[in-house]
Amino acid sequence: MMATTRADGQGSVSQLSIPTIDLKGIHNNSVLRTEIVEQIRDACEKWGFFQVQNGIPAEILDRMLHGIREFHEQDSDLKKELCSKDAGNKEQYMSNNRFFKSSQGNSRDTFVCYMAPDPTKPADELPSVCRDIVNEYSKLVMDLGFTLFELLSEALGLNPNQLKDAYMDCAEGLSIMGHYYPPCPETKLTMGTGKHTDGSFITVLLQDQVGGLQVLYENQWIDVPPTHGALVVNVGDLLQLISNDKFISVNHRVLAQSVGPRVSVPTFFRPHAENPKVYGPIKELLSEENPQIYRETSVKDYLKYYLSELVKGNSALEHFKL
Ligand code: OGA
Ligand code: NI
Repeated sequence: MMATTRADGQGSVSQLSIPTIDLKGIHNNSVLRTEIVEQIRDACEKWGFFQVQNGIPAEILDRMLHGIREFHEQDSDLKKELCSKDAGNKEQYMSNNRFFKSSQGNSRDTFVCYMAPDPTKPADELPSVCRDIVNEYSKLVMDLGFTLFELLSEALGLNPNQLKDAYMDCAEGLSIMGHYYPPCPETKLTMGTGKHTDGSFITVLLQDQVGGLQVLYENQWIDVPPTHGALVVNVGDLLQLISNDKFISVNHRVLAQSVGPRVSVPTFFRPHAENPKVYGPIKELLSEENPQIYRETSVKDYLKYYLSELVKGNSALEHFKL
């Protein structure tokens, strides 16, 4: 376990919390929908984070957390096999920090599932302990993502379909990760996941009841307390870029806990790295008062830079400014 100091203080003293948005009725009540769009706009402008309720049934969320935990707690031969597979394969397992191998000193194991382009995978491609639930969850999280992209479009003042192309590209690169943070005796010295922003358009995070996730808001670390049945949604760098800074991709981290294990499942909506398309600020959002901040970039170029900065704990977006 690598150690890293928490010079910036450990806990959160604030009573503030990220907004919670209830998606119930979103498809059949237009008044409610307008309200929800406003809440999302406000959350994405100020926090870059919000929590949604009634996005995916709680029973599915519980089974998903359970399945990912079972995967990590199974006999390690299968995990080793996944570990040794090359990156061209659809699943990968990374133990203690092969992903963010870094000065960050993250302390967790991670199982990555590249679900896309086809979320219904041949059964034998997924480990049997979590195969069914991962398939089921991935379909529902894709549907939720579609709804969120529509709402985000409207929140940007665009036609609901405007981000659809970005969504379709993300649907081809969707990756679901299963993190497993073992309990940590030295919580003062260890970070579960170091400070970072996400290299996605959006991330939908499922976390269990242990806690430890914090987001940076006005220079303070604010806890994101676990809420049963809810999902945490955050703006990633690519959405900040195409929204020309209207929506913000903010730093977050996970504090190591002495209790545990902690299981969390982020789904990253991001186009496949080989997608040749370039993304830049949406033209409709630009004007004399809002001049273009970023240049266009392909996902590959962006990710290359993002990953090189991630290990240093820096954000990548600066580099793409005009
Ligand atoms: C991530 C992340 C948070 C968590 O994987 O990018 O921020 O709760 N995870 O594990
Ligand atoms: Ni993250």
